[in-house]
Amino acid sequence: MATVLAGSARQLKDKIASRSARIGVVGMGYVGLPLALLFSEERFRVTGFDIDPQKVQTLNNGGSYIVRIPATEIQAAQEKGFHATSEYSQIREMDVVIICVPTPLNEFHEPDLSFIRNTALAIAPEVHEGQLIILESTTYPGTTEELLVPILEKENCLGLSVARKPGDSGFYVAFSPEREDPGNDTVARRDIPKVVGGVGPEAQELASAVYSSIFNRTVSVSSPAAAEMTKLLENIYRCVNIALVNELKQLCHRMGIDIFEVIDAAKTKPFGFQAFYPGPGLGGHCIPIDPFYLSWKAKQYDFQTKFIELAGEVNLAMPYYVVEQTAEALNRHRKPLNGSRVLILGMAYKKDIDDLRESPSLTIIELLRQKGAIVAYNDPFFPYVGKGRHYHLDMHCTPLDDLSQFDCVLIVTDHSDYDYQRIVRESQLVVDTRNATKGISSPKIVRC
Ligand SMILES: NC(=O)c1ccc[n+]([C@@H]2O[C@H](COP(=O)([O-])OP(=O)(O)OC[C@H]3O[C@@H](n4cnc5c(N)ncnc54)[C@H](O)[C@@H]3O)[C@@H](O)[C@H]2O)c1
Repeated sequence: MATVLAGSARQLKDKIASRSARIGVVGMGYVGLPLALLFSEERFRVTGFDIDPQKVQTLNNGGSYIVRIPATEIQAAQEKGFHATSEYSQIREMDVVIICVPTPLNEFHEPDLSFIRNTALAIAPEVHEGQLIILESTTYPGTTEELLVPILEKENCLGLSVARKPGDSGFYVAFSPEREDPGNDTVARRDIPKVVGGVGPEAQELASAVYSSIFNRTVSVSSPAAAEMTKLLENIYRCVNIALVNELKQLCHRMGIDIFEVIDAAKTKPFGFQAFYPGPGLGGHCIPIDPFYLSWKAKQYDFQTKFIELAGEVNLAMPYYVVEQTAEALNRHRKPLNGSRVLILGMAYKKDIDDLRESPSLTIIELLRQKGAIVAYNDPFFPYVGKGRHYHLDMHCTPLDDLSQFDCVLIVTDHSDYDYQRIVRESQLVVDTRNATKGISSPKIVRC
């Protein structure tokens, strides 16, 4: 039931309805930039905040650094008032601020909330009466109320507090998870229902109103913690099911059964089964990371999240399994892995995207090199791979013009643009971790 809004809450709701509310999005990455563009398409004046000066400059020059976002979309947004900045003083001009900064794991596999903390510290002094702050970064239940709100209240220059009850003065706070599936174009972003949990009913209603202007459906939950947990449940569900098929893939391999054939048959059941597919290991900024946010938090409640730990164990072992299978395949060709030339096909963590974060290809390359293989890669999305948070490769993309020079071509990511018929025809040996060669029959193919 809608709350009767008064005072600054009423004013903000009216501004949202008339599109005169100014929207600030903090973090111009894979989540924040598309979100900013959606608001801009809906005629809101949007400001993008980022600490990376190169991103700010590229956007203000009308350019894009994300392959699936053409520069023309940035330019169209600029015409509607979009600009980017690193100046946090501009936060005070915003009516709504949405935070989309990274939430990685640290070296001990624990939540690294430094990006949220630093953002909160930077925006807190600027927060004004009636402003709505929404956190979108994926995180454990409790972050919004236990971390974000206390910093905003403590560091605010005007001494404002969060408005918890109808009629309270202060600012509004909510959590709303991002549920995008990169590379999946079957569902338009607007059609993905937006889950919203506010600190109090006014924040709930205002956050729902903001998102209703760009999403076709919003789903209200009773608190930010429920919204935070919703996102984790979705990602843990995927992580556990992927681990299950990854384990069964290894068993099927031993039993001489094709797991992909089995999944295709099982998914004809019209109820009670959803297909998940095995692969060379997990990647991306979500599935390998988010579940561990919950297992870390669970420890505070003396609770062990066994499914998360077990799924993590199985999924983390997959790159090792792939390397073992590659060595075995080469062995059947009377070649040792040590000294063999291996071409990795596909570096991205999944097909048709330009995202390398946590990609299993990075671990596979490291393991192959440790065993003495001479490794090259091809990926149309990455002409060069240098240094990241957990890797330092310094490798250039190898063209696919002479595949016969490699002892083995290892398909790690099944990009759609690859001509798999040709790859099989021209290679000496193909190890396929994604069933990309489905339908091609050749003794050169080893599916693992
Ligand atoms: N990428 C996805 O598909 C996806 C999907 C769902 C949820 N998420 C979640 O969304 C959040 C953001 O992920 P992403 O993929 O967009 O990350 P990203 O690394 O692509 O982008 C984050 C941006 O935030 C900027 N940033 C960091 N600290 C900042 C600060 N203090 N102030 C301003 N900008 C700052 C970085 O420079 C970067 O441009 C994460 O919590 C992630 O788990 C991501």
